[in-house]
Amino acid sequence: MTIFALHSPEASLVLEQSGNALLWRHLGLKLDVEGLPPLASTRGAATFSLDADVPFASAPGLGWFGPLAVGIAGQVLRWAVTDVAADADTLRVTVTDADTGLILEQGFRAVHGGFEISATLGNDGPVPIAIDHLAGALLPLPAGLDRILSWRGRHAAEFVECVEPLPAHQWRRESRRGLPGHGGPPGLYLLGQCAGWDQGLVLAAQLAWSGDAALAVERDDEGRYLLSAGMADGFTLQPGQRFAAPPLLLAISGQGRNGAMQQMHGLVRARLDWPSGTMRPRPVHLNSWEACYFGHDQARILELAQAAAAIGAERFILDDGWFLGRNHDRAGLGDWTADPAKYPDGLKPLADAVNALGLEFGLWVEPEMVNPDSDLYRAHPDWALHVPGAPQPTARNQLVLNLSLPVVEDYLFTALDTLLREVPIAYLKWDHNRDLAPPGGIGQVQGLYRLLARLRAAHPNVEIESCAGGGGRIDAGIAQFTHRFWTSDNLDAVSRVTIQRGFQAFFPPEVMGTHVGASPAHATGRRQTLGFRAGVALPGHFGVELDPAKLPETERAELAGWIAFHKQWRHLLHGQTLVMGEGPDGLLWQASGDGADWLVLVTRIAPPQDRRPQPLLLPFLAGAGPVHARLLARAGSTPHRGFGEPELRAALSGEGVRFPADWLAHAGLPMPPLLAESVAVFHLKA
Ligand code: GLA
Repeated sequence: MTIFALHSPEASLVLEQSGNALLWRHLGLKLDVEGLPPLASTRGAATFSLDADVPFASAPGLGWFGPLAVGIAGQVLRWAVTDVAADADTLRVTVTDADTGLILEQGFRAVHGGFEISATLGNDGPVPIAIDHLAGALLPLPAGLDRILSWRGRHAAEFVECVEPLPAHQWRRESRRGLPGHGGPPGLYLLGQCAGWDQGLVLAAQLAWSGDAALAVERDDEGRYLLSAGMADGFTLQPGQRFAAPPLLLAISGQGRNGAMQQMHGLVRARLDWPSGTMRPRPVHLNSWEACYFGHDQARILELAQAAAAIGAERFILDDGWFLGRNHDRAGLGDWTADPAKYPDGLKPLADAVNALGLEFGLWVEPEMVNPDSDLYRAHPDWALHVPGAPQPTARNQLVLNLSLPVVEDYLFTALDTLLREVPIAYLKWDHNRDLAPPGGIGQVQGLYRLLARLRAAHPNVEIESCAGGGGRIDAGIAQFTHRFWTSDNLDAVSRVTIQRGFQAFFPPEVMGTHVGASPAHATGRRQTLGFRAGVALPGHFGVELDPAKLPETERAELAGWIAFHKQWRHLLHGQTLVMGEGPDGLLWQASGDGADWLVLVTRIAPPQDRRPQPLLLPFLAGAGPVHARLLARAGSTPHRGFGEPELRAALSGEGVRFPADWLAHAGLPMPPLLAESVAVFHLKA
């Protein structure tokens, strides 16, 4: 018997090889594998069950009743383990099927605090093989889990958290719209009994894939739960071809949701490819969309850029409406040259003028799309995804280009490359405003990744934002090529609180686009104070999406103040450890910091029920040394009449107060009275 074990700081993955069979022994919290008894001796008799354990990779017909790693219609694969290779942080298992010549290499890596699970399927046989599906990860779940957290959503209402018990039979999330959709990445959290924000077993997983994906949690008759994750689409493997399935990022922690979230952030951060290797401070944006929609020209945009520079923005993004015939959303997509009616000299003079104001210039594009009313479509109607002879359903008046056609990929590369060469563009907002019908399958996603990779290689200093009608394409697959996600078209700060908390379950705040929008919010019509809108936007990659010139003078100054505040503190908000929690009487909080220095943001949405604000427990500080706490800012509604500040609270918002860390962890940080729709910002320093 040989044991193969892989350990992350908090978890272990253990396989046992016994004769020819390779068996799962454990995937869960960290343990010592010294002196383990053989698995067979822990297996009790169960009536109606097979006499032997089912090996690592198996197939129906050979005793496997669970979901399949590789599915081929009408074919039983007789996987044999042909190689197991292990080093300190990697385990690679190769299985082959002699009949077909298929070879599956399953990789497990303990990295960045968690695990990355990969699979490569190859065809060493003589004929093409149609693969119905490939679940790159098929994992036994640890005992003791009892809830599934997942997120669903729609345009302008992303990341709605759903809690369900572990299923009696099966839980499944499958997308068939060609992109992950507004419920966030193909991922989930599995919570152990009694697990919460800070304690208990939590397992989180997300598939790094921007196309259709299927995730399932299935219970077998013996009582075990299995997690399977993979692309939802099939494909054909040619002889000699290898296909690398999208990896599954896996976090397992005994420190509750926060522990798993921190591992997830580590796994995602490792995939980000920053220009010149490291993240520089995230420049504050001003985006033109809600400021002027399609109604702009060079003079109007320059005015807006001047107003942006005056309040301290660092990057100006010209959104939709700048290209040929794009006066509304019914025309123009596909024709990526400046509209001569609005920009008679092209974009270069505009971008130069924006740069001269001290702002980087960014540009909106939606490369995968085409309007039937465009020169591109008139010239190449066959470039759009279509089912021959069937009607082509438009959405937002547009069709989707077939990115698996090399000619389409080349056209888009040339169009974007030309823009990037001719105009000093530092940033592309890359949008995708519809579901795919007909579907583009795996080829569409591969074409997109190829195009993005070519552009990144040709223009390594250009940052890219992934947007799909807000947060319709937020995933760790596209994150390899992008540097920001547009979280939602809903800028209403109340809506944003939950959207952003859901986002951060999978992605770190530095790639979360957050904007201060107008009041009333365009998406909901609700009014909120400028302070509350800014306070809610603070933790992310901060921006403004309104015309500052239209604000009253006092609000413009206040907005400039929030921008300056964000710049002063963004080093603690981005690239750091994030902790979240819920406080008494409806408070929601998140803290971000490096272990010695923390910024704590406390948000209240609904009016308080208690007469006095109760202290906020900060469990992550337990065991640390003394902490100096200071209330830096209060944003949002404030009481019309003062209630008189007790001495301690006055000191907190003045010089600050020194507390033993355990006091803040177990007795709590004193809270100021917070009215509905307000944010308090504290700085904690060891
Ligand atoms: C999508 C985006 C918006 C904006 C519009 C432009 O809806 O999410 O931010 O760019 O497209 O058409």
